Amino acid sequence: HKDLIGIAPLAPWEIHYLLDEAEQWVALNRQPAKHADALAGLTIINAFFENSTRTLLSFEIAGKRLGADVVNMHAAQSSVKKGETLIDTATTLNAMRADAIVIRHSSSGAVQLIADKVDCPVLNAGDGQHEHPTQALLDALTMRFWLRSDSCPLSDEFAKLKIAICGDIMHSRVARSNILLLTTLGAEVRVCAPPALMPAAIEHMKVTPFSDFNAAIDGVDVVMMLRLQNERMAGPFIPSAREYRHLFGLTPERLKRAAPHALVMHPGPMNRGVEIDSSVADMLERSAITRQVEMGVALRMACLDVVTRRARGVEGWNSL
Ligand code: CP
Repeated sequence: HKDLIGIAPLAPWEIHYLLDEAEQWVALNRQPAKHADALAGLTIINAFFENSTRTLLSFEIAGKRLGADVVNMHAAQSSVKKGETLIDTATTLNAMRADAIVIRHSSSGAVQLIADKVDCPVLNAGDGQHEHPTQALLDALTMRFWLRSDSCPLSDEFAKLKIAICGDIMHSRVARSNILLLTTLGAEVRVCAPPALMPAAIEHMKVTPFSDFNAAIDGVDVVMMLRLQNERMAGPFIPSAREYRHLFGLTPERLKRAAPHALVMHPGPMNRGVEIDSSVADMLERSAITRQVEMGVALRMACLDVVTRRARGVEGWNSL
């Protein structure tokens, strides 16, 4: 693969390969001096056409910790605002001879369009409702660290995990990438949403759909909550926060239905008091939400390292 556009084209061994690579960077990031020079002399452009806190900052930190020069292009301050097309923007970035380009865009497929026009590797930082592959990979890395920790009674096997992904499945690229990754690794995946927020195509994915949240989380090992993406809702269905919390919010009482050891995850940003109560989100012994952010930096270091290997003449990934 030249690029990292989605989880869909990845084989199980490629997913594990990226997770294995990320582990060394988790260890480095926990040291006082967090610097490596694997990408010294390389230039990485983060081109974000949609808002972001976690993904943008963690890609920037990841590139800098590996010694690269990192520049950020925010669409709101760019010539996109003057009417420049996506293809002209891609051609412009390509002419600057970046060594990797990280792109977030509100349109599904926009990242692939740019990847087809530029010479360097392109990494998808979230495109519309399509995929957010580094989020799914960092979520898997978080689960794998938890499975291997002393506090987890389970064996280190994704194939034995029961995971419920709950919330706005219809508009969520995080849900799609996680479903693809977790089912590829053999996990049992349940998805739960109000009927209006469950995509028809869910029938073609290897998951069990639920509209009853209590039933969906019964006995699961991991509860992954998703945000209501009001900004992507054009139709009549925008439930009130109160209604939504009543039926689909993760409260301490509801969490008791999951397995006693169950891990709580959320990709952020959270709507506290809507899809998740603060008392659950901030539960030290159960919530992995800040751990997910920590894993995000290490995972993105691994992705930047791996996709630039061919250009650097280093074995691995593209030569496999
Ligand atoms: N999880 C995630 O993609 O967060 P940001 O939108 O803040 O990048």
